[in-house]
Amino acid sequence: MELNFAGIKLRNPLILLSGTAGYGKELGEIIDLSRLGGLICKTITLLPREGNPPPRTAETASGLVNSIGLENPGLKVFIEEVVPYVKKLPLPVLASIAGDKKELARMAKELEETGLAGLELNLSCPNVSGGAFNPVSPADLHKTIKAVRQSVKMPILAKLPPDLFRIQSLVKAAEDAGSDGLTIANTFPAIIFDVPKKKPALGGVTGGLSGPAILPLSLYLVFKARQVTQLPILGSGGVFDGPSAVSMLLAGANAVGLGTVNFFQPDAYREILLAIKKYMRCCHPER
Ligand SMILES: Cc1cc2nc3c(=O)[nH]c(=O)nc-3n(C[C@H](O)[C@H](O)[C@H](O)COP(=O)(O)O)c2cc1C
Repeated sequence: MELNFAGIKLRNPLILLSGTAGYGKELGEIIDLSRLGGLICKTITLLPREGNPPPRTAETASGLVNSIGLENPGLKVFIEEVVPYVKKLPLPVLASIAGDKKELARMAKELEETGLAGLELNLSCPNVSGGAFNPVSPADLHKTIKAVRQSVKMPILAKLPPDLFRIQSLVKAAEDAGSDGLTIANTFPAIIFDVPKKKPALGGVTGGLSGPAILPLSLYLVFKARQVTQLPILGSGGVFDGPSAVSMLLAGANAVGLGTVNFFQPDAYREILLAIKKYMRCCHPER
């Protein structure tokens, strides 16, 4: 099941998604990380961020709404304290970064020197107030990715917003700007209410919806993206079992992201790997 994904060698197509596996420490204590293809670290920013006020997560039918607000220790601490740890993990690790164009280019340059396997650009976090990290237009997306591309040679994945109506324009912009691969997509903007208290359930008021509830929407985004690009796609959104993972491949993804499932069934990868193996044998015997 080995594959070369955007220049990164993976032992299989399963990748732990940003923010749902931390830096691999806690999850690595309960599952065997050497059975997975790769891990994308929680997004970092140039300077540390405290994140949004609690509560930061709330459950909905078949889904989770989160408003973490990119809490992270900042680039310096990440490079000094996290990178040495994650480089010892038994799988390729990518850093995930957010910020404006200049910050992203600077962070990318410093991270390239650490020897991590790749970079994911979080161009789509719904939980940061002001929308400064949310270049929704294809033109802005292009400028941001291009700035990073010009600063590093290491593999870059552009993590796109879940824009159901403009996904093809965003994909073309990312490809044209030199992204090596795409992560499609981030969580869907959402709000959830605490009805007895008659107010929003999350401290950050709005958040991002993830989990099985968004699977058909993520499949749609990947399917539409595949119509306009040959770039490797990491399908992100709603995968929780064998059939949902194979659906992601059928929609056109090359790799399958595991996110919210890490919270409710961290060993789901076992069943998913078996299902993917069976699918590959039947439909891609050449692999
Ligand atoms: C608690 C939580 C934190 C997340 N943090 C990040 C993050 O820091 N950066 C990022 O790009 N995506 C983040 N995400 C989004 C996931 O990486 C993933 O794209 C999304 O949850 C959809 O996949 P899923 O339905 O399998 O969870 C987060 C998701 C959750 C649930």
